Amino acid sequence: MRVCSFFVAVAIALAVAGCDRSVAGGSTDGATVYHAACANCHGERGKPPPAMADQLGVRDLTGAEFRARRSLALVEQQVRKGSANGRMPAFTGALTEAQIQAVAAYVLTLESK
Ligand code: HEC
Repeated sequence: MRVCSFFVAVAIALAVAGCDRSVAGGSTDGATVYHAACANCHGERGKPPPAMADQLGVRDLTGAEFRARRSLALVEQQVRKGSANGRMPAFTGALTEAQIQAVAAYVLTLESK
C-alpha cells in the first residue's frame, strides 16, 4: 500500500519536526511554513504532483474552483482540522497558531502558472 507507507513517512516527518518543537524552525513566514509542511503533498506552488492528486486526492490550490471559494477562514480551518476523510493531517499542535495564520495567508496568494 503506497498510500499507507506515505502516511507513515508524513507521520515520521511531523514527529521529527515535533522533536525540535517547531516546523521550519518556528518561522512565521507563510512561504517558509508552506514549503516545510505542505509542499510535499500540494506541490511547490500549490499544484500537486500528479501522483499525489491521483493516489491521495490532494486538491489543487491553484485551480479555479478552489480559488473561487477560498478564504483565510477556510484554509485555517483545513490546516487546523485536516480533511474530514483523514487524507490531510490536522496541524494543530504541529504548527503554532501564528504559523497557521501565516500559511493560510500564503495559500491565498497561490496562482496557477
Ligand atoms: C499528507 C498530504 C497533505 C499535506 C502534508 C497537506 N495537505 Fe492539504 N490536502 C491534502 C488532501 C488529500 C486534501 C483533500 C482532502 C479531501 O479530499 O477532502 C487536501 C486539501 C486541502 C485544502 C482544501 C482545499 C479545498 O478544496 O477546500 C487546503 C486549503 C489545504 N489542503 C491546504 C494545506 C496546507 C496549507 C497545508 C500545509 C500546512 C497542507 N494542506 C498540507 C493533503 C495534504
